[in-house]
Amino acid sequence: MELQTQFESLKHTFEKTLKTTVDLAGLEALRVEFLGRKGKLATLMALLKDLSEEERRMVGTVANETKQAMEQAFDSALAAMKNENISSHAWFDVSEPIFPKESFGHIHPVTQIQQELEDLFTSMGFMVADGPELESDYYNFTALNIPPTHPARDMQDTFYIKGHPDQVMRTQTSPVQVRAMRKYRAPIRMIVPGRCFRNEATDARHEHTFYQLEGLVVDKDIHIGHMKGVLEEVAKHLYDGEANVRLLPKFYPFVEPGVRGEITCFLCRGTGCRVCKQSGWLEVLGAGMVHPSVLREGNVDPEQYQGFAFGFGLSRLAMLKYGVDDSRLMQSGDMKFLTQF
Ligand code: PHE
Repeated sequence: MELQTQFESLKHTFEKTLKTTVDLAGLEALRVEFLGRKGKLATLMALLKDLSEEERRMVGTVANETKQAMEQAFDSALAAMKNENISSHAWFDVSEPIFPKESFGHIHPVTQIQQELEDLFTSMGFMVADGPELESDYYNFTALNIPPTHPARDMQDTFYIKGHPDQVMRTQTSPVQVRAMRKYRAPIRMIVPGRCFRNEATDARHEHTFYQLEGLVVDKDIHIGHMKGVLEEVAKHLYDGEANVRLLPKFYPFVEPGVRGEITCFLCRGTGCRVCKQSGWLEVLGAGMVHPSVLREGNVDPEQYQGFAFGFGLSRLAMLKYGVDDSRLMQSGDMKFLTQF
């Protein structure tokens, strides 16, 4: 092969190999092999001296161009690789978040309890319904036997919407009772999990935003025994079959009779502790037989149908079950808190 062609083919091979070199060590090996003092280029260069003067001038030009081109290609490959190395290894951004790639997040403790209860209730033939968080004053209060002047409104002060005096952020999931009766008619068996709001001076026990789970059963010949049976089922389900329920009289305008429901303290299992204030019981729900005038608001005839309703404090259940002592943590979005569940 003519010397001139040999130079050209050397350059070609060099550039091809350069493209497939991926690290600095490989690059250095390549430099020694082709551009080193005893490398392939130097070996070819040494052959120049055997040519005639005229040939040497001609081939020499090609040789010099080849050398320059190879060195330039090498230098720019080296610079590019160093740059890449700097950004991927030698230098790092201290402000970059370090969430591990495999962290997918998980279900919030309140949602966990909600889903558990949805499973339980649907297995008992209940449907899961929904209602608006921005509710009318009528459904939130009036339809539930709480007319505008009723003192029960004081205990459930909420957020009112400027320019819309008839709209409130719902204080309870109970307004869905009347909505559902109007929509589905009797018989009904449903639960309504959802977010509620109250105008609270927040502290460890009071939060302006919290979750409830409402229940409503309307049918013929429904009595308070059915209600207690269902509530006992819930308590057992939540606490591995060992919990009891007791019902004590409590006034709610939309039920008659009304009760507050307490379940066996999850912590001491009824023997008395700090969480249950030594009583062995925890108040987790309100309930009662649906008031005839509420049935009438729902276009259900109280002479034909009876019903019971209950409302669990979902946030409260979650706090009790997981031993959370500050209700504000539930809404905080604090990762240190959330990753514990
Ligand atoms: N809505 C009531 C509350 O928020 C709870 C309740 C629901 C009571 C259903 C009776 C029947 O306190």
